[in-house]
Amino acid sequence: MLNTLIQKAVIWPLIWLGAVFYLKSGKQARWIFEKIRTPRSLYLTARNMLHFHLGIPRIAGWISMTIEPAAVCNLTCEYCARGKDKNWTGARPTFMDWALFTKIIDEAPRSIETVCLAGIGEPLMHPRIIDMIEYASNSGRLVYMFSNGTLLEGELLERLAASPLDVLNVSIEPDVESARRYRGVEYDEVAENVRAFAARKGPGQTLNLALVMNEMHEDRICRFEEEWRAIVDHVKISPQMGLGAVDSDISKQACSELWRGNMDIKTNGNISVCCFDSLEDLTVGNAATDNLNEVINHTALHTLLQRVATGDLPERCRRCTSACFTRKDIARMTQKAANRRQQ
Ligand SMILES: C[S@@+](CC[C@H](N)C(=O)[O-])C[C@H]1O[C@@H](n2cnc3c(N)ncnc32)[C@H](O)[C@@H]1O
Ligand code: SF4
Ligand code: SF4
Repeated sequence: MLNTLIQKAVIWPLIWLGAVFYLKSGKQARWIFEKIRTPRSLYLTARNMLHFHLGIPRIAGWISMTIEPAAVCNLTCEYCARGKDKNWTGARPTFMDWALFTKIIDEAPRSIETVCLAGIGEPLMHPRIIDMIEYASNSGRLVYMFSNGTLLEGELLERLAASPLDVLNVSIEPDVESARRYRGVEYDEVAENVRAFAARKGPGQTLNLALVMNEMHEDRICRFEEEWRAIVDHVKISPQMGLGAVDSDISKQACSELWRGNMDIKTNGNISVCCFDSLEDLTVGNAATDNLNEVINHTALHTLLQRVATGDLPERCRRCTSACFTRKDIARMTQKAANRRQQ
């Protein structure tokens, strides 16, 4: 009860302010709130951001981790790094080994309160995904997952709805045409699965939809939000991230992502501190061979933070579009991409 009060009266307004300040969009606050729900996470995030602004190459505290259960996918979405960045070799293990997964959860610093199951693959394809959710949840953490929603049916749907999963984010396109074009799926089939999960989900489970913005018009998104308002908890709209062909003013900015206090661990155990580093360009250690707590104090992490803090950006960062978070930025980038395609 007291926790809920603190979340609503203190943490939520502060996160909303942070979203407006950093991302120029209060709408993004809900997503930050998935990772920062307690005074401790909020305090560590504030210290992390202070380090970022002061150019201190150190993480004050870890608050979340993203674990990649599967590096395999049943879709080939047009904008996903799996196909888009072309140099994806598919060299990582298809599924994260169970022993590695439990090692990561067991070794994770206690300050990590959230575990996100995502990565460059479809988590629901992992044969032990429900066990993973249970194991992470039993460690006392909030568990959330991204899924393309195509496998969200039958027994798996029932088990997921009955599992301790806290938040399910289903990635979707806003209509039939773009679902076929960008994701190669039938909108109605995914939508039916989402509705089925909404009808079965447990009382504490949150169900969100995640859109990646392409050549969508504002009114189309508004219609989509209207359509799903009563069924899901929230609709998230993200800019399309990518490599290359970005505005130099955007790509040269130092990026706060590395100071977010999130570890991103791939199926092979490689650890990054950037959620968009799908192709392992910014690896700072390996969870299979290193103890997670050693990685945190690793020279590789320090060197990476030092480089970004002093503007000596790694190649990966120089070509990254992650700084474009406002709809205005997205519209500008989208227009540029469309122009390039026409040339
Ligand atoms: C990489 S997917 C992995 C989980 C699952 N396969 C899915 O599609 O939800 C995680 C999220 O990243 C999004 N995503 C993929 N490529 C993206 C890109 N280029 N820019 C922004 N988001 C992207 C997906 O739409 C999805 O919401
Ligand atoms: S966005 Fe998700 S569903 Fe689409 S190809 Fe990438 S991992 Fe697969
Ligand atoms: S790859 Fe992009 S999001 Fe990640 S740290 Fe570099 S600039 Fe930031």
